[in-house]
Amino acid sequence: MKILVTGGAGFIGSNLCERLLKEKHEVICLDNFNDYYSPIVKKNNIASFLNNPDFELATEDILNKAGLEKIFTQHKIDTVIHLAAKAGVRASLIDPEGFSVNNIIGTFNVLEACQKHGIKNLIFGSSSSVYGNNTKVPFAETDNVDYPISPYAATKKACELFCFNYHHLYHLNVICLRFFTVYGPNNRPDMAHFKMLDSIINGQPITKYGDGESRRDYTFVDDIVDGIIACLNKNLGFEIINLGGSQTITLNRMIEVLEKTTGKKAIIENLPFPPGDVNQTYADISKAKSLLGWEPKTLYQEGVKKLFDWYQKKLTHI
Ligand SMILES: NC(=O)c1ccc[n+]([C@@H]2O[C@H](COP(=O)([O-])OP(=O)(O)OC[C@H]3O[C@@H](n4cnc5c(N)ncnc54)[C@H](O)[C@@H]3O)[C@@H](O)[C@H]2O)c1
Repeated sequence: MKILVTGGAGFIGSNLCERLLKEKHEVICLDNFNDYYSPIVKKNNIASFLNNPDFELATEDILNKAGLEKIFTQHKIDTVIHLAAKAGVRASLIDPEGFSVNNIIGTFNVLEACQKHGIKNLIFGSSSSVYGNNTKVPFAETDNVDYPISPYAATKKACELFCFNYHHLYHLNVICLRFFTVYGPNNRPDMAHFKMLDSIINGQPITKYGDGESRRDYTFVDDIVDGIIACLNKNLGFEIINLGGSQTITLNRMIEVLEKTTGKKAIIENLPFPPGDVNQTYADISKAKSLLGWEPKTLYQEGVKKLFDWYQKKLTHI
């Protein structure tokens, strides 16, 4: 298959490109290498694929319609996996306009290009953040998601709505995957796992928000990639599907596991709980099991160990 991965140089995108190449797909990796975090990190994420004849890098912005048009004209694309976005709850409170334009207009442009070029299948990287402060656990796809509590979450919900609209009008098959906080190799450096691991290893203080009892359903990146791959060749019309680790971990437990894995004690600084953050996330994954035959395989401690191993290997290559 020829697969376009938008945001392919990022954390999840680069792990996905690696797997797609291993499975002998042709991959077009579209990325604008924005400076949300260092573009050098993103270049490094994909450096090892650049000589692979099945890999093509398209340095392009999904906000540039002419650039998208060129890529869709040049290639006979079978499936689009759309991951390009400004991601990050807290950053979206500082730059709501940038997040809105990039994520909503960007997704609209991708949908338009799919429609114009007769693309049959789109997989969209949505987020558990759409559930807001849902009090019912676990979060099911049928739960009301009309109350996002951050601009980032609102952009993801808006994108899901546009995805449905393009499915309805143009019969594009769309699967919106709601990823629950992802961690693992190539981790985004602004995310808690990377920041805390980095700080603990370097003897720097880590920030603990609130009493540490907020919970996240952390999902190892290989499991997310498995879930995306499970969507290829699935003709489901329009579906929204949770991909979560299905085990909730408190912030206190996360710090404990990081300490155990690194063999170092964390220096903790306490701060109040941030306003855009949700109290808990917890995925109901029964739909992923029944429609995709998917369930996460990685236990939390194992995943953290793999993250730590990657971090150490990365340091030896700097
Ligand atoms: N990491 C998580 O825990 C998580 C959770 C839920 C959803 N998601 C979603 O998964 C997707 C990937 O997230 P990630 O953690 O890998 O983030 P990331 O920032 O590492 O990857 C996103 C990539 O998209 C690129 N990009 C952004 N805007 C672009 C544009 N206008 N044109 C072209 N490229 C652009 C960036 O340069 C980056 O390489 C995002 O859509 C994110 O919202 C991530």
